[in-house]
Amino acid sequence: MKILTVVGARPNFMKIAPFIRAIDRYNVEGQNKITHVLVHTGQHYDVRMSEAFFRALDIPDPDINLEIGSGSHAEQIGYTMVAFEKVLLGQNPDWVIVVGDVNATLACSVVAKKLNIKLCHIEAGLRSGDMTMPEEINRLVTDRLSDLLFTPDRISSDNLRKEGTPEEKIAFVGNIMIDTLEANRERSEKLDINSIIESNLIDGVRQPKKIHAGSGYALMTLHRPSNVDSKETFVPLIRFLLDEVTKDQPLIWVIHPRARKQLDTFGLWNDVVNRPSLILLEPVVYHEMVRLNMGAKVMLTDSGGLQEECCVLGTPCLTLRWNTERPVTLRENGGASVLVGNNIERIRNEYFNVLSLNRIPSRPELWDGHTAERIITILTSLVKM
Ligand code: UD1
Repeated sequence: MKILTVVGARPNFMKIAPFIRAIDRYNVEGQNKITHVLVHTGQHYDVRMSEAFFRALDIPDPDINLEIGSGSHAEQIGYTMVAFEKVLLGQNPDWVIVVGDVNATLACSVVAKKLNIKLCHIEAGLRSGDMTMPEEINRLVTDRLSDLLFTPDRISSDNLRKEGTPEEKIAFVGNIMIDTLEANRERSEKLDINSIIESNLIDGVRQPKKIHAGSGYALMTLHRPSNVDSKETFVPLIRFLLDEVTKDQPLIWVIHPRARKQLDTFGLWNDVVNRPSLILLEPVVYHEMVRLNMGAKVMLTDSGGLQEECCVLGTPCLTLRWNTERPVTLRENGGASVLVGNNIERIRNEYFNVLSLNRIPSRPELWDGHTAERIITILTSLVKM
């Protein structure tokens, strides 16, 4: 059997690492062999957004890199489709595997189906119901086209059933991101928080005071267009961080290229750089982020993956969105996250509320570190080798 797997952007890399390891194990133990081709569309291309993750997570170099880079959605998707079609015509795999919900996921799904190649989606069935999110469109199209849909939780399987997906195409296997978390937890735990800060501090940011064990800090990431692209939303949020959070405790902000660009555009860069207690870091590698998460008193984020990691690590998480495609991570469902949108009053109330909460790790069903194995077992049993 020949499998061709696609990755494009940072959140894909954590999902593909355990899948590739499970293929390697199968090839050592199984009678038949899987031939695997890894394609990187190049949507994320900075060393810190891409290559550093391949190295840290021991992902082999991609066999093919489409080098698509940045652009509008139509440009990213269009250029990816043109380049990926050539790859598929040359490679002719039995299955194309896509993960997550980024533009690469959508683009490559459409191309595979148009060429009548079987399509499998890992992390299927997530729904925010918010069609203004580019990722929601990517999820809907990819799931509609997929022949085999691996879901991370039962809610996602039910979402697919409600949309009419035939039962035999759906397999609830758990969350593959948590395979990566469990495989890298010990290594992450050993890292020193102050060394992480020192080696990732953005140029020009004043040297922060050392963080002492037990003294606590808040941790933040932001990248969604709905939070960073409009001045009316982004500026009040920055003011709240500067005027309230950083006066209360140090705030470590691991800054995404999109947010950094917007700080510049809105004339906020000097303000944030010069604020004591606001520790601005370049994008950090996987283990460093897990370590920072483990030590944080509170996480402020609009990332889906971090909501999931906070759930398993137990870090109280303010999700800066009005909806989530990952409801199992919410506090009312046993998780650690609460939706606060981008209303400052609501963020403030919940921020001071969660500071008094203890860390309560929780583990949704089958988030056990063995999802990739289940996927390979199902995939190989379905397919004639
Ligand atoms: C993409 C995904 C999002 C995911 C996020 C994680 C889509 C629709 N969005 O959003 O689901 O949560 O990745 O990071 O696929 N840039 C760099 N260097 C890079 C990559 C991007 O500087 O290596 C800059 C680009 O110039 C661009 C901006 O960051 O202007 C945004 O990049 P893009 O890939 O368009 O989307 P993300 O916001 O990263």
